[in-house]
Amino acid sequence: MNDYDSKRILQLLDDDYARIDRPDLADLIIINTCSIREKAEHKLYSLAGRYKPLKRRNPALVIGIGGCVAQQEGRRLLKRMDYVDMVFGPQGLYRLPEMIKEAEEGRRSVFTGLSPDFRIPAIVAPLPEKNPVRAFVTIMQGCNNFCSYCVVPNVRGREISRPPEEIVREVEDAVRQGVREITLLGQNVNSYGRHDSRYPSFPELLDMVDAVRGLARLRFTTSHPKDLSDELIDRFGQLDSLCEHLHLPVQSGSTRILRQMNRRYSREDYLAKITRLREKCPEITLTTDIIAGFPGETESDFMETISLLERVRYDQIFAFKYSKRPGTRAVELDGHLPEEVKAARLAAILELQTEIGLSQYGKLEDRIEEVLVEEVADKNDRENVWLRGRTRGNHVVNFRGPAALRGMFVNVLVEKACNHSLSGRYLNVNEQDNVTNLSESGATSC
Ligand code: 5AD
Ligand code: SF4
Repeated sequence: MNDYDSKRILQLLDDDYARIDRPDLADLIIINTCSIREKAEHKLYSLAGRYKPLKRRNPALVIGIGGCVAQQEGRRLLKRMDYVDMVFGPQGLYRLPEMIKEAEEGRRSVFTGLSPDFRIPAIVAPLPEKNPVRAFVTIMQGCNNFCSYCVVPNVRGREISRPPEEIVREVEDAVRQGVREITLLGQNVNSYGRHDSRYPSFPELLDMVDAVRGLARLRFTTSHPKDLSDELIDRFGQLDSLCEHLHLPVQSGSTRILRQMNRRYSREDYLAKITRLREKCPEITLTTDIIAGFPGETESDFMETISLLERVRYDQIFAFKYSKRPGTRAVELDGHLPEEVKAARLAAILELQTEIGLSQYGKLEDRIEEVLVEEVADKNDRENVWLRGRTRGNHVVNFRGPAALRGMFVNVLVEKACNHSLSGRYLNVNEQDNVTNLSESGATSC
């Protein structure tokens, strides 16, 4: 979501500014922030501190802080950092051109409005990357779920869905610019359209986006398990572009802790959805988020998370130590755990997942996978360079081949599974790209 917002900022400023990667030469620096965990918030303070001397050397430099920490801290950031000119929350980024003008006139400003009437403006403009292969499209902002640990409803406000025709137009525009894969974004995509009877449901929106000509791959994130409907599950395997991957954050394997988290599903509900997903789409790759050491989590609750990981066997997980966030209900709960307990549980989760992930990725060894080539690692040797792409199941694949393959679908023979990636041998361009005569090449490394 923040990545999408950063790209929108770049689009908004495209007429007036050129991008450089030398902060010491910049006229404008914007830090887009995340406050999901305390660690993310700390990153802002250390990064901004590094920019302070730049402002002393060049008083005309304008520095802005945007995103969720800006929303959470507001005016306090201006007090804490006298070299910062602008502070704006997620809904404020569209005011940036005005705020920059004010800063140039010597006025410092703060925008932390969170209006339920806010609408993400439609921008049809060149994407910030020159040859984009994948792009994100936000379909909704905000969240009404109030999981007890989560700061998002406070900093991004209530759910607001974008009109379907705007979403489809943004997808069409991206595809026209060469994008082959789109990820639809929202804090809880399954709630899409729920608050406006004129809008389609999320599965219906998927049908509309799937119908965009030239779009080869479609993904979405994030789904809340309580709202994952049978109708949506059935789209996997039905829609050509919809990739066989679902990120379904479980957070904990203990029904008792899930209740404390206000997740509104039980361990059994979650497992039943996984069973249905695998029945409908046996190839599906599953990934999840886990919080280790939520307040009141006992050893036996924790073991339920371990057993859920063993049972589901995700390809990848994102696991975090519970972190206290301002204004959330979990802060008030009894039983906050010592740092060492949280760290030890996180380490045990990650150790188990390393083993499971390797075995899951290992299932792809010796198989031929369709890979969309996203990146060229080495710019010098054009004929045989390291390339990186993804399977439909969202596994990263490294292999060697001609740089010209970027943006194409190719067949790769998977030779070796590593923890979070695969490596293999390039075979040929996939038929749907209809390009031939590209030579075969070897070498394997993760
Ligand atoms: N502490 C730790 N992890 C958190 N997440 C959200 N809030 C917190 C918190 N206070 C994690 C959840 C969520 C992911 C985006 O971040 O697992 O799914
Ligand atoms: Fe946070 Fe829960 Fe909303 Fe996700 S669903 S953004 S975890 S409140």
